[in-house]
Amino acid sequence: MKNIDSFSHLRGESIYLDDVPLVAGTLFALAFGSPHAHGKILNLDLSEAEKMPGVVRIFTYKDVPGENQIGGIVPDEPLLAEHHVHFQGMPVALVVAESVEEARNAIKKIKIEIEPLHIITDPREARAKGELIVPPRTFTLGNVENAWPLCAHIVEGVAETNGQEHLYIETQGAYSFPLENGSIRIISSTQGPTAVQRHAAIVLGIPMHMLEVDVTRLGGGFGGKEDQASMWAILCALGTHHLRKPVKYSLDRMEDMRMTGKRNPYSSDFKIGLDKELNIIAFESTYHQNAGAAADLSPAVLERTLFHSTNTYFVPNVKATAYSCRTNLPPNTAFRGFGGPQGMFVIEAAIHKAASHLGIPAWEIQSKNLIQTGDEFPFGQKAESEASECWVTANQVFETEKIQNGIEKFNAESIRFKKGMAYMPICFGISFTKTPMNQARALVHVYTDGSIGISTGAVEMGQGVNTKMLQVAAHVFSVEANRIKIHTTNTFRISNTSPSAASATADLNGKAVEIACNAILKRLIQMAAEKYEVPENEVSIENEQVLIFGKPVNYNWSQLIQDGYLKRVALSEHGHYAPPGLHYDPKTEKGHPFAYHVYGTSITEVTIDCLRGTYVVDSVKIVHDFGMSMNVRIDRGQIEGGLVQGIGWMTLEEIVYDETGRLRSNALSTYKVPDIYSVPKEIDIHFLQTKKENMAILRSKAVGEPPLMYGIGTYFALRNAIQAYRSDAEIPYSTPMTPEKVLMGLYGKKEVVNA
Ligand code: MTE
Ligand code: HPA
Ligand code: MOS
Repeated sequence: MKNIDSFSHLRGESIYLDDVPLVAGTLFALAFGSPHAHGKILNLDLSEAEKMPGVVRIFTYKDVPGENQIGGIVPDEPLLAEHHVHFQGMPVALVVAESVEEARNAIKKIKIEIEPLHIITDPREARAKGELIVPPRTFTLGNVENAWPLCAHIVEGVAETNGQEHLYIETQGAYSFPLENGSIRIISSTQGPTAVQRHAAIVLGIPMHMLEVDVTRLGGGFGGKEDQASMWAILCALGTHHLRKPVKYSLDRMEDMRMTGKRNPYSSDFKIGLDKELNIIAFESTYHQNAGAAADLSPAVLERTLFHSTNTYFVPNVKATAYSCRTNLPPNTAFRGFGGPQGMFVIEAAIHKAASHLGIPAWEIQSKNLIQTGDEFPFGQKAESEASECWVTANQVFETEKIQNGIEKFNAESIRFKKGMAYMPICFGISFTKTPMNQARALVHVYTDGSIGISTGAVEMGQGVNTKMLQVAAHVFSVEANRIKIHTTNTFRISNTSPSAASATADLNGKAVEIACNAILKRLIQMAAEKYEVPENEVSIENEQVLIFGKPVNYNWSQLIQDGYLKRVALSEHGHYAPPGLHYDPKTEKGHPFAYHVYGTSITEVTIDCLRGTYVVDSVKIVHDFGMSMNVRIDRGQIEGGLVQGIGWMTLEEIVYDETGRLRSNALSTYKVPDIYSVPKEIDIHFLQTKKENMAILRSKAVGEPPLMYGIGTYFALRNAIQAYRSDAEIPYSTPMTPEKVLMGLYGKKEVVNA
């Protein structure tokens, strides 16, 4: 079935925050962000700004009635700066004015005096100075120290991955309205309605039941609105709380790029040991995560880096240590893959470097070490599938030997252009790594006309979760899709939602929908069984038709529901789902954190122009384990979108902060995202359909984040193409592989290249 939003998207009729009609009397908020990355506030002078036309009021931390705190994992992030500033753009004051222009003009009149303090932008410097967000964590399996002497080959190195701007099409924003008796309604572009509600309650010092947070849909989130939407929503709520007026704040693009955090960059060390047969015997890694100025979600991102430190390989001896390092940059945050891609890149770099030393392609090592059913991950969980299934299928359906031979032939004949290819096998754990977050609720109403309204904790952000929720209900009731409406995500209807994240939204909320629908169905079946005086198990509903002993009778869905109402059967249900079997002990760093893993293998082919350093991605061929995809169109869209986002991260997107902590790549003229030319000329997706995954909704496995990691293959394919031109090229394992870096690899002096 098509995405239920496809028509309204195409016609421009879908409602986003900026489509909500303005209420008379609405005021507009704008934050004054710190001009310095680190310092002590000596003086804040609002007097001139307050006199500017249209200004209603300017708020500072002194106006926070509750706690001036929005930190989710660690309470280290004030809503508005008190005495210190920790990054450029950190909100210090909030101007509320009658128009956005007037707010903007007033901001220019705010004067701040700051005593500068030392600015750190590099995570390794932060670690050396003891600036850690949380204590470091180490995952171990076996014993690496005992294993090194057993290795025939040991390779060490450094790997660096860049940040990434979320660039959701809809920027951050919120709109808050006063309700009676001090309550507030907030429309927020957030992945986490409850996160907004919870922190607004803390900041305003009121109970959560006074805060209604409502989300229709987002124009993209990609992790950037898992926690970081709260700031803007709470700033609006603060204005509404004091002024009892509607307050709207919708960030412009440059403000959003400057003030919000991005994917955490990492700087990592690795050491890998192989035996003569190319089995990986030991892997040791140290990750320095650039967290930015506050914890935000970084400790959880850090944890997932460790969970994916060995990607899809079985390594018997592992020691992986991760540091979350505090720097004077905007707090970095969740981004599709949530630390997993950063972790996977490091082991892929280690394998690639080892292969280059041995003069063999990386895939000889990769294919030798794929994890098998029953093999243990460093965190104690056992693999539930064969990673080789996707790999072997890929070799078969895509005839990879032919591709390899074709590339060799091409490279032998061509001087100016060189081709390279790389495999990227992935294995991504599905579930929030924080076990209690794995729960969801759904509220299902069947109305007397037989139509159905559903609310869940799922937030639609383009990933198609609403369509999937509708499919679940249509499946359980066996009714037409047009009977069902998925309502907004709303904290008054659905409480205590986990953010729509971790790729787990459809599984968690879908199972809650399934539970609620089944409960209603059971009551309807009971009623029909009584009517026809047959056992309940002889009654079923198929295509809106009641069947008795498998045969249609003169009784359809509409009649069933009407009778249900007259007989006073409960036609509504609230379902709660918590996946069984999950546990994790951070003390021992062992447990069973994931409901299951998603596996896949991609093969990327690129061509570089050795004269210009430019390149094209010729093709990406993917075998992906979907379980039994419940929506092939949506899932294909997720694979294509995730892949291209991953290619952008690995090749183009270069976030540049200067040494003062100022974002230099602060607009789309200086920050390059993938466009139509960056998209692979061919994307070939082979659906591996497997039936066994019970923990996935309707056996349709989570698909949101994993495909981003196929993009990593592009980085290594480019390196391989460079090596085809210059076999002694020594290129640092540092992303993104921009055309400049390709040129450096092709022609750079060794000393320069190694620097
Ligand atoms: N797809 C679109 N179109 N827009 C998004 O914002 N977010 C991604 C992914 N796919 C995103 C997306 C991220 S980071 C996650 S965690 C999942 O969708 C969340 O949705 P799911 O749990 O329903 O897969
Ligand atoms: N993924 C995404 N978001 C999260 C996670 C996770 O594993 N844990 C906490 N928030
Ligand atoms: Mo996705 S990074 O878990 O929002």
